[in-house]
Amino acid sequence: MSKILSDVAPEVLARFAADMVAWQTRHGRHGLPWQNTRDPYRVWLSEIMLQQTQVSTVLDYFPRFLKQFPDVAALAGASQDEVLGLWSGLGYYSRARNLHRCAIEVMARFGGVFPQDPVDLQSLPGIGRSTAAAIAAFCFGKRAAILDGNVKRVLTRVLGYGADLSMVAHERVLWNLADELLPTQALSTAMPRYTQALMDLGATVCLPRKTDCAMCPVQALCVAKQEGEQLRYPVKTRKLKRSSEALWMLWAQNKRGDVWLEKRPAQGVWASLYCLPVFASAEALVGTLPFGQELRHDAAFVHVLTHKDLHLHPVRAHHERTLSKPLRVGVEGAWMARAQWQSLGLPAPVRKLLEG
Ligand code: ADE
Repeated sequence: MSKILSDVAPEVLARFAADMVAWQTRHGRHGLPWQNTRDPYRVWLSEIMLQQTQVSTVLDYFPRFLKQFPDVAALAGASQDEVLGLWSGLGYYSRARNLHRCAIEVMARFGGVFPQDPVDLQSLPGIGRSTAAAIAAFCFGKRAAILDGNVKRVLTRVLGYGADLSMVAHERVLWNLADELLPTQALSTAMPRYTQALMDLGATVCLPRKTDCAMCPVQALCVAKQEGEQLRYPVKTRKLKRSSEALWMLWAQNKRGDVWLEKRPAQGVWASLYCLPVFASAEALVGTLPFGQELRHDAAFVHVLTHKDLHLHPVRAHHERTLSKPLRVGVEGAWMARAQWQSLGLPAPVRKLLEG
């Protein structure tokens, strides 16, 4: 049985940070394009991109984004559509909307200079406690703990922390434990290495369904390994409450093959992206069409969001005449050729549909 720790065992406290730092120096990742810099703009951008996206994908987007927006002033000066367009394909577009808002706030509130204090960083849009700590540690050597999903896994295993993390009180305890484990010396070099070590160990050695304990620098300290129960951690009983929704999407094309796309509202599913017109029912879709035309109901498919399964029903319409006014009152829309919509921020299932 694992115990719920309120404190860290002295031998762990004495060795954990130093062993992690030494391991990162020899065996960690060093050549990623957002490493070997203390530029908070680059570190922030990479951390936001890496939140829900694999390193291999970010390796492609990160340099393109930097080329277009080399600094926070350039990003703040862009339009939201430009930012969403460049984000296109990365998904989780709230990250891109917050990125843009954050750049604007860094300009307005901090004169274009990222603050160093994690509390100030956390006051910015899209920067949570863990991301704030990563920026503060990587760029400024601040003694601040990260605790993303990978790090929760590493720490609960090493500490044998078996309390249910779906309870806020238990997560808070883990934050405190993470704080206690931080390096205490030579912070300017130790904090970036230690922070990267946690990320690297979680991404390459201490995996969700497989552990490579022989490669782990803290195997001798690891309670889960001593128990032979590595995969039992972390414990999280409450699963995300999921819902489902059916949506009908009008896939209208004109004679030239252009498609009618609308800008989504700023709130809700696919906020601010360009999208096929979406309706709550087939009747609502048909009722909105400006003139009678043949409709073809394509096969429905399911698109899985974080909280929701979307059952999507594409309905195809061919327009001989070209719509000149909006399909719906108060909704911005336009006929767009492939070259136009390809560079826009589109929901992933819509892009897949259009690209055939
Ligand atoms: N995932 C989150 N942050 C990361 C980083 N700095 N390097 C590699 N993977 C990460």
